[in-house]
Amino acid sequence: MAIELAREGADVAVWDVNRAAVEETRRTLQDLGHRSLALTADVADGGMVNETVGQVVTAWGKIDILINNAGICQKSAIEEITEAEWDRVLGVNLKGTFLCSRAVMPVMKRQGSGRIINLGSIAGKVGGISAGAHYSASKAGVMCFTKSLARELAPFGVTVNGIAPGVIESDMTRGLSGGQWDDYLAGIPLGRIGRAEDVARVAVFLASSDAAYLTGEIIDVNGGQLMD
Ligand SMILES: NC(=O)c1ccc[n+]([C@@H]2O[C@H](COP(=O)([O-])OP(=O)(O)OC[C@H]3O[C@@H](n4cnc5c(N)ncnc54)[C@H](O)[C@@H]3O)[C@@H](O)[C@H]2O)c1
Repeated sequence: MAIELAREGADVAVWDVNRAAVEETRRTLQDLGHRSLALTADVADGGMVNETVGQVVTAWGKIDILINNAGICQKSAIEEITEAEWDRVLGVNLKGTFLCSRAVMPVMKRQGSGRIINLGSIAGKVGGISAGAHYSASKAGVMCFTKSLARELAPFGVTVNGIAPGVIESDMTRGLSGGQWDDYLAGIPLGRIGRAEDVARVAVFLASSDAAYLTGEIIDVNGGQLMD
């Protein structure tokens, strides 16, 4: 998403707990000739979130687009989920989305414009298939939070939408077995697993002026696996 937005002309601040990953993405962004920032912070830590958003505002004076993408997925069965694991999954996926949105809201309200895009999941609609119940619950929360946030920010010219991906090739799904891929493929009418670009192009659309009249919407990007 960072790379596709940069290709469309955006300056992108990439933010992750993984320093090496943000540096790698920043190098790619630099090659595309745009300004970029590589920041390291935990989205589940309110203090760090406020500080990091402050760094972006100090550097660039504004934030036009926030994408709440950071997420973790555990596959534990419900009886095996410890309280700590439950809290961490909900902390990163759901609280992280709340904390980052809360930190950016005053900036966008002041600007009278902005776009927030939250990553939900098909698992948040149908329950965990290969993902755990805590992951699914967190993503259902993210998608409902998206609607509440959309209502609160609409009067300020800020739109808030979500993307609910199906199965996408990434580090998160790398651990799936060959049999699991085959099972997924059998249920995907478009006949292939999703790619990061499939999600990124929808994010670019949601961030663009073409999506000016969309808010509180969750767009499925799942090859037809779920049509609701
Ligand atoms: N891959 C899929 O099939 C799929 C499906 C549905 C939804 N999603 C969602 O899409 C988003 C991106 O997932 P992905 O597939 O690229 O996974 P990924 O594991 O490749 O990327 C997630 C990124 O989030 C970062 N991260 C984790 N915890 C963090 C924290 N506390 N603070 C900051 N950064 C943190 C990780 O370091 C990683 O770079 C996630 O929200 C995920 O839940 C993915």
